This record gives sequence, C-alpha cells and structure tokens, in this order.
Amino acid sequence: MPRWVLLSSLPSLLALQQPGQGDIVASVKMRSASRFLGALAAVASLPSAFGQNNVPNTFTDAETGIVFNSWGIPNGSPQSQGGWTFGMALPSDALSTDATEFIGYLVECASKDAAGWCGFSLAGPMTNSLLITAWPHEDTVYTTLRYAGGYAMPDKYAGNAEITQIRSSQNSTHFSLVFRCKNCLQWDHNGSTGGASTSGGFLVLGWVQAFPSPGNPTCPDQITLEQHDNGMGIWGAVLDENVANPSYTAWAAQATKTVTGDCGGPVETGIIGVPVPTGTAFDYIVVGGGAGGIPTADKLSESGKSVLLIEKGIASTGEHGGTLKPKWLEGTQLTRFDVPGLCNQIWVDSNGIACTDTDQMAGCVLGGGTAINAGLWFKPYSLDWDYLFPTGWKAKDVAGAISRVFSRIPGTDTPSQDGQRYLQQGFNVLAGGLRAAGWQQVTANNAPDRKNRTFSNTPYMFSGGQRGGPLATYLRTAKTRPNFNLWLNTVVKRVIRTDGHITAVEVEPFRDGGYKGIVKVKDVTGRVVLSAGTFGSAKILLRSGIGPADQLEIVKNSVLDGPDFINNASWINLPVGYNLDDHLNTDTVISHNNVGPAFYDFYQAWTAPNTTDANKYLSSRSGILAQSAPNIGPMFWEEIKGADGKVRQLQWTARVEGSFDVPNGYAMTMSQYLGRGATSRGRMTITPSLTTIVSDVPYLKDPNDKEAVITGLNNLRAALNNVQGLTWNYPTASMSSREYVDSIPVTPGVRRANHWMGTNKIGTDDGRLGGTAVVDLNTKVYGTDNLFVVDASIFPGTPATNPSSYIVTAAEHASAKILALPPAQVNAKWAQCGGKNWTGSFQCAAGSTCQRQNDWYSQCL
Ligand SMILES: Cc1cc2nc3c(=O)[nH]c(=O)nc-3n(C[C@H](O)[C@H](O)[C@H](O)COP(=O)(O)OP(=O)(O)OC[C@H]3O[C@@H](n4cnc5c(N)ncnc54)[C@H](O)[C@@H]3O)c2cc1C
Ligand SMILES: *[C@@H]1O[C@H](CO)[C@@H](O)[C@H](O)[C@H]1NC(C)=O
Ligand SMILES: *[C@@H]1O[C@H](CO)[C@@H](O)[C@H](O)[C@H]1NC(C)=O
Ligand SMILES: *[C@@H]1O[C@H](CO)[C@@H](O)[C@H](O)[C@H]1NC(C)=O
Ligand SMILES: *[C@@H]1O[C@H](CO)[C@@H](O)[C@H](O)[C@H]1NC(C)=O
Ligand SMILES: *[C@@H]1O[C@H](CO)[C@@H](O)[C@H](O)[C@H]1NC(C)=O
Ligand SMILES: *[C@@H]1O[C@H](CO)[C@@H](O)[C@H](O)[C@H]1NC(C)=O
Repeated sequence: MPRWVLLSSLPSLLALQQPGQGDIVASVKMRSASRFLGALAAVASLPSAFGQNNVPNTFTDAETGIVFNSWGIPNGSPQSQGGWTFGMALPSDALSTDATEFIGYLVECASKDAAGWCGFSLAGPMTNSLLITAWPHEDTVYTTLRYAGGYAMPDKYAGNAEITQIRSSQNSTHFSLVFRCKNCLQWDHNGSTGGASTSGGFLVLGWVQAFPSPGNPTCPDQITLEQHDNGMGIWGAVLDENVANPSYTAWAAQATKTVTGDCGGPVETGIIGVPVPTGTAFDYIVVGGGAGGIPTADKLSESGKSVLLIEKGIASTGEHGGTLKPKWLEGTQLTRFDVPGLCNQIWVDSNGIACTDTDQMAGCVLGGGTAINAGLWFKPYSLDWDYLFPTGWKAKDVAGAISRVFSRIPGTDTPSQDGQRYLQQGFNVLAGGLRAAGWQQVTANNAPDRKNRTFSNTPYMFSGGQRGGPLATYLRTAKTRPNFNLWLNTVVKRVIRTDGHITAVEVEPFRDGGYKGIVKVKDVTGRVVLSAGTFGSAKILLRSGIGPADQLEIVKNSVLDGPDFINNASWINLPVGYNLDDHLNTDTVISHNNVGPAFYDFYQAWTAPNTTDANKYLSSRSGILAQSAPNIGPMFWEEIKGADGKVRQLQWTARVEGSFDVPNGYAMTMSQYLGRGATSRGRMTITPSLTTIVSDVPYLKDPNDKEAVITGLNNLRAALNNVQGLTWNYPTASMSSREYVDSIPVTPGVRRANHWMGTNKIGTDDGRLGGTAVVDLNTKVYGTDNLFVVDASIFPGTPATNPSSYIVTAAEHASAKILALPPAQVNAKWAQCGGKNWTGSFQCAAGSTCQRQNDWYSQCL
C-alpha cells in the first residue's frame, strides 16, 4: 500500500519527532506513538501490541447540523494538556470515490487565554503532506495551509487549496473552528504531489498542539512558529458511513467567510546575499561542514593548498560564533550545542537547525550531525571495513586513519570532568542481568572488535565536558591557517562542469550574509569535494546532471533548476540515491523499581534546570548535564549468524526513558539496531521541488534480516530473565518476539536510527557501466576527473555502531588518497578526453575542445 510510504517520516509541525527513533529521542508528551503504532497494526491486520481504538465517534454539531466522524485525545490525558478533537465530514460518495475536499471541525484545540495553535497533517507526517495550522487571535481564528520538505518551518503551500470558515469560537481554554477545506485531499506543492484517499475508508492523520502563539498572528502568510510544546502524533482514522452525507453540498455552502488577515506593510523581503568576490579560485572547495567535510577540509588545508569550506547552516558551538542558547547559558560562551545534556533539544526545537530539504532529520548547521547528535563515539570494529569496504579500504588500510582520528578525538566514557558517572541505576539493572547471563563487560573503545555478547559504558566524543568532536579539533586547526576559508549560510546549488571536468560551484545565500554567484576552482588542477551528507551530496550530484536518468528528468522539469539545467548530452548516469541504508531500529521497553532514581528530565534542563546541576556544570563541567540526554547506557552487542551464512551485527542502546505509552520513571527503552551484515537497501529520490525523500524504505526486505532481529530479541529476553522484578512492557511477557516484530510498522517514522548512508557508494564497479558504485577507490565520482564525495553517502552499508567516528575515519583516509593523486593534466590535441568508461582527464589543451565521437570515445579536436 503506497500510503505507508507517506508515513515514512515524522508527524508534526516544526521539530516534532516521534519517540523511539534510534539515536536520540524525546519523551516529553510524546506518547502518541502508541496510537500510531496501534492504528497501523490494526489496519494492517497484524497482531497488535498496542491495542488502540481508532474507530470514530459520530456527532452532530448542534449549531450547523453537520454530522462528523471525530477522533481525539480527551482533556486530562497526559499526551496533551487540554486535549483536542478533530472532526471530518465528506461528500456523499467519498467512501467509493476519493474526495478532494472536506468539512473540518477543530472542536476543541487547547489554548491558554486565546494563545497557542494547533495543526493537522492530512497524510500523517509533517513532511510531504498538506498541513493545516489554526490559531486564535483576538476575536478571530486564523488558518494557514503549509507544506514542509524537511523538519523546519513549513513553506506556504503553493497549490490551490483553500479554507473558508463556517463558524469559530473561543474561550479561556480552547478554540473551535468549523471550516471547509477545498482541494485539500490531493496536493501539488510546486510539483511535489500526494494525497489522502478517502475511498479506502481509512486516513492517516497527524496532529500537533502548542501554547505559544505564532509570531505575526494576523498575517497567516508570515507567521512564525517557535516550537510545539503540547504534544503531537500520528493516528489512523477509520471512516464510517456517517462521514459521507448527502447533505454535504448544502453544508459546504455555509462556508462563506474568508479570513485573509492583515499583514500591514510590505511582505517579507528575500534573503540578502553577498556576491562571490571576483578573481578568487581555490585548489579545493569542500561542500558541507559535517562529519566528513570538516576533517577533509582540515587535512587538505594542512598540505598548504587553498581550501574553501562552504556550509549551508549557521555557526553552532560557541567557539565558532554560535549563539543559540537557553536563558541559563546567557553570559557564557556556551550554546545549546556545547552542553551534552541539551542534545535532545533537537527533538523539541529544530527550526533553523534541521535541514529543510530532506524528509529525515539531519543537522544543517556548522558541524552537521556532529553538532546535534548525542556524541556516541566508537573505535571502529575491523570487521566493518573488511566486510563492507573494497580494496584499499580494509581494516589494515584504514588503521593509520583510525589512529590519527583517535589521537585527536579519543573520546571518553566518563564525560563529567569530576570522573564520576551520574545516575547509573538503569545501567546497573541491565548490566547485572547481562553479566549473570554470561555477557562480558568491556571498555568499548579498548576492545573495538569484541561485539558479540559484550556490553559497555557509553563512549562519547566529548572533551572537557563539552561537545568537542570535529568542531573542536579539525576545524580549530584548519582555522589557524591563512589558506583555509570558511563560508557559512551558503548553499551549493550545483557544480559547474564541462563534461567530466568541474570548473566551479554555484552558490546561493541560505540566510542573509551567505554568498551568491559562481566560485571557481583553479584551472586544470582544482578539485571539488562534496561532503553534504547522504541526502545533501546526492542532491547536489542530481542537480549537477549526475545520477539516474529518471531523477535527472525530474530536475530538468523542475521550476527551480529546469531553465538552466545541464544539457542531457552531458548527463553522467550513475546510481546516485540507490543503496540507501540505515540501522533498522526496533524499540523495546522494560521497567524495574531500581531504575527510578536514574530518570532525569533533560527537557526541563532547557527551561528550568536544577540549580545544583546547572552550577556544577557551569563551574566545573561536571554532573549529569555533562552526559548526553537521555541517560544512555549500557550499550550492548551481539552477532548472529543467519541461515544465509551472513553474520549480522546488533547493537542495543539502552536509555532511562519510557516509550510508547510507558511513562518515564521506572522504564528503560532498549533500541536494537541492525547493522553490518543486513542486506536490505532502499532508495532516496528527488521531488520536483528539489527536496529529497526516502522513497524506498531500506528495512527488513530480506527475511534473514528479520530473523536476526527476532533472534536478537529472544536472546536478550533470555539474558534478562534472571533479573528479579524486571517487567517487559514491550513486548509483554506473553507476546512472542516474532509477533512483536511483526506488529511494528516498517517505516522510517518508527524504525529509523538517523544513520543514513550509502547513496553514493564507493566501489570498483563503475556505475556508468551498470555497476553499483558512484565513486571510485579514491572517492572520485566516476565520469569526472576532479569531483569527489567524502561523507556517509559513500559507505556501502552501516557498520556495527553509531557511525560518526567511521565517517571521520573515512575522511582522514580519503583526504590522504586525494592528496596523493597526481594533479590533473590537460590532454594534448588529438588525445582521448572522454567516453563511457574513460577514467582519465576530460580537459583539452588550449586551441582544442573535447568532442564526442561515440559513446565510448571523445577526442580533443
Ligand atoms: C539526531 C541525530 C543523532 C545522532 N547521534 C549520533 C551519535 O550519537 N553518534 C554517531 O556516531 N552518530 C550519530 N548520528 C549520525 C551522525 O551524526 C551522522 O551519520 C553524520 O553526521 C553524517 O556525516 P556526514 O558528513 O555524512 O553529514 P553531516 O554531518 O550531516 O554533514 C553534512 C553537512 O553538509 C551541509 N550541507 C548540506 N547540503 C549542503 C549544500 N547544498 N551546500 C552547503 N552545505 C550543505 C549540512 O548543513 C551539514 O552541515 C546522529 C544523527 C542525528 C541526525
Ligand atoms: C471551552 O470550550 C470547550 C469547547 O470548545 C469546552 O470543552 C470547555 O469546557 C470550555 N471551557 C471553558 C472554561 O468554558
Ligand atoms: C513554489 O513556486 C512559486 C512560484 O511558482 C515560488 O514563488 C515558490 O518559491 C516555490 N516554492 C518552493 C518551496 O519551491
Ligand atoms: C535529450 O533531450 C532531447 C529533448 O528532450 C531528446 O530528444 C533526446 O532524446 C535526449 N537525449 C538523451 C541522450 O537522453
Ligand atoms: C537537584 O539535583 C540535586 C542532585 O544534583 C538533588 O540533590 C536535588 O534534590 C535537586 N533539586 C531539586 C529541586 O530537584
Ligand atoms: C556469539 O556468541 C555466542 C555465545 O558465545 C555464540 O554462540 C555465537 O556463535 C557467537 N556468534 C558469532 C557470529 O560468532
Ligand atoms: C573501455 O572500453 C574500450 C572499448 O570497449 C576498451 O578497449 C578499454 O580497454 C576500456 N577501458 C577501460 C579503462 O576500461
């Protein structure tokens, strides 16, 4: 069913994320996952672990006589203060023919004294769905229709949907709105299309509520939404026969009121860019300042070459000029990115930080993922290189790179500067059970190759009680060099090339002060390295005419790039976007009385931190706030041999936090990641509005992958059997691991680990000739002589652990390979300069140009 694909991302307006997503995860008021899971499990007729009821209520609005199906969360529920109810009425034939419109009833959106807003997603997730946002202001309820390509402030919807109001009301605790939404059930946002089909008798919808009012409340086109703070979720909405009524047309005719608002004054001005300085050309341009890009730019600049690092986002950590922080950090150089205990704020407020052009969570700030992640940092397991990577990238080949990385970022499993580990009760409950079952405790980074029935404390890249990592090491040394340049707030739109030779990159400002124009690399020898991440680098390649033909056609037909897109005679067909991988995440939950003291409210630490803890952190970088939210550990591993002979790696990440409907307090969530050895892969594609989506989900396609997940869960249940007083919440004791695994939807929204990799795979099988590789063993893009990719996208598959240390290692290794390549040369007249399997220079001596003779041969003439 294609609809499940739409669920692929998370619900919500703004940073809304769902619990149970791998790397780090939010608890606050986010119990709604269970509704979502319940809905899907029920509808897909799978054994439901969650037993929720998504059958509608039917009620008649006394004032208008309109009959609605409705769903909601009652006032008093922990999921959302004040609760909400959403009603829908549809045209009479909507259960047999897909409707294009509906009458909606926001019966009671919670608000406080006419403040706040509520939002609904017509496909469920926040991204790639039509979003309705409504809020009260003075005597009016305003609405805006929005559409988001990523987890940031959604754009104004570009299609022809329209809201007209029937009636609205408000009091001190709630507001209500009855409205008609025309052309709302099929959408087209600048070519990105989708819809909610009513004929199947079932919709997947999403909700979010917040108490702060939108900024610019009287100007729907220009509202700002800071963050939602009153819950969110996705639910499956069963439609019954009462939803489709013969009186629909008459009811719809009551919708006569259009609320346009008043924007008073000129509409927002565009972003103000700075022209690229003329006359500059660099030896290297590195695109993207994340886990791959920062070390690469540092190593290239260390050689004395001129390097420009271009980053789309703002500065993050204080050291590099970042400013975003909660009140209690004012007056210090620290930002939200510096303090380990604040890392989960990304799941509460990601606006201006998360990438806006992908439907998965990724950091678009200086540092990329390493600025926003939980900092888990593992010495690589040699089998990962040996199993996943080609010649020249085996464990023995990357050993030097690993030792260089770990000499700069050794990591620590005692991040608090007083050497203590805080709130370890949860760790102790699980470690005790594992130990008794014969699993062995290791210091993870002293024994990287021991990943079968071992457990450890959590190692982090933190140093000095702060985030550390590449930002505090590689970027620091790069910035001391006069030949290193850093541009922030600047997006690379594409590379400019003549056949396989890149001459420049085209940039656009992402915010005021970013650059616009064309930035050149040096003639003949200059090089460009893409390090924009699994989705970002793949997107730049596609916009540069490098990728599968179906994707290049989409770019060619797009409003944004179509008019000046590179001619199809110069397209380079490579499998960009295929081979997408991520650790498959399966969340489980246990409870134990001894866990109690270990729960810590890291969300509260943003607004109103415990003074003792805040002071301890500020004065000596010690205490619980020097550890990552949400109290992570133990980490444990198992390797499972499948019927196909492949050994699959499992990593479990435990944390003191409830999931699904299990409250915080005594609960621990244990997330199982399936890594190296899994064979399932998916695909990333581009939309007509040039955002990227996970269009083919990379999880559990191979039955052996699923067996490993089930066996691993069985083994863990057996291991923890000996812990007295331990209760299994998910799965419950009476449910088999197989039933449990079968009951969880296989969608990114529920299963992702945020470790996306693989869209520009490294390998010897040249993708131009039907192979699977996009880059060669030097990370050079096939069919080019000076374009490289160095980031998570080149990984053939996911490794054993969280991947950032592997990506930094790959960058160390790749930059050495790139620097060792002989400088590019110009071909003499008459020489070969291209062809489908050509791996030499694409440049011709002055006085000649490269001319195509046939598919296999171009010549300097
Ligand atoms: C919430 C979260 C938590 C995580 N937790 C952990 C963890 O604890 N441990 C761990 O090992 N891994 C973790 N990861 C994964 C890890 O952070 C990523 O795998 C890693 O950062 C990817 O590295 P990268 O270089 O490929 O891309 P990124 O680090 O994402 O860097 C890409 C950079 O390119 C920039 N960019 C993109 N497009 C453009 C463009 N067109 N022009 C200019 N700049 C551009 C982006 O702004 C970004 O800064 C986590 C990831 C997330 C999202
Ligand atoms: C406000 O209105 C809602 C219905 O929209 C109702 O449920 C609630 O009780 C009302 N609250 C007050 C304080 O009147
Ligand atoms: C959508 O298209 C309109 C005009 O065609 C343009 O103004 C707007 O910027 C586009 N929005 C996006 C997000 O592409
Ligand atoms: C390039 O596009 C033109 C015009 O759309 C088309 O006729 C031609 O077949 C295309 N060539 C290739 C190689 O795809
Ligand atoms: C603050 O934290 C300390 C431990 O760091 C604890 O002893 C104290 O009770 C906490 N105070 C409050 C008000 O929760
Ligand atoms: C992992 O360890 C278990 C227990 O010692 C053993 O039975 C199993 O074969 C090991 N797995 C692999 C893949 O070696
Ligand atoms: C490219 O193909 C030609 C013709 O098939 C062949 O002669 C040549 O050896 C190939 N070159 C490479 C680098 O594979």
